[in-house]
Amino acid sequence: MTDTVTVCDLDGLPPGSRRVIEAFGGQIVVFNVAGRLYAVDAVCPHAGGPLSHGRITGARLADTPFEHRWDLEDRILVCPWHGWEFDLETGSTLFDPGVGVAKYEVAVVDGTVLVNG
Ligand code: FES
Repeated sequence: MTDTVTVCDLDGLPPGSRRVIEAFGGQIVVFNVAGRLYAVDAVCPHAGGPLSHGRITGARLADTPFEHRWDLEDRILVCPWHGWEFDLETGSTLFDPGVGVAKYEVAVVDGTVLVNG
């Protein structure tokens, strides 16, 4: 069974902004990245850093040695303490898909941002 928590009116979470809420027994940060909404745990699983203060960027990926490409623009949340990188689409770190933060479904209903946990 899922629970639903109200975050705010969509107007209160414009593109480029973020909000931290208390829900599901912890802190969750909700991002509006160019109109796409993401919600993940706000505490980094490495050493407790504040992911709510992380910058959002892309990532340099390599399919083969010496050939790098920039990808995942506006999908990567970087922990401000030691730089772990999390894909906002999955919650997983880039270095190990089995390591990451909980990711939550976000919906907008009648202009209200909701998070399902
Ligand atoms: S606390 Fe987040 S990378 Fe170390």
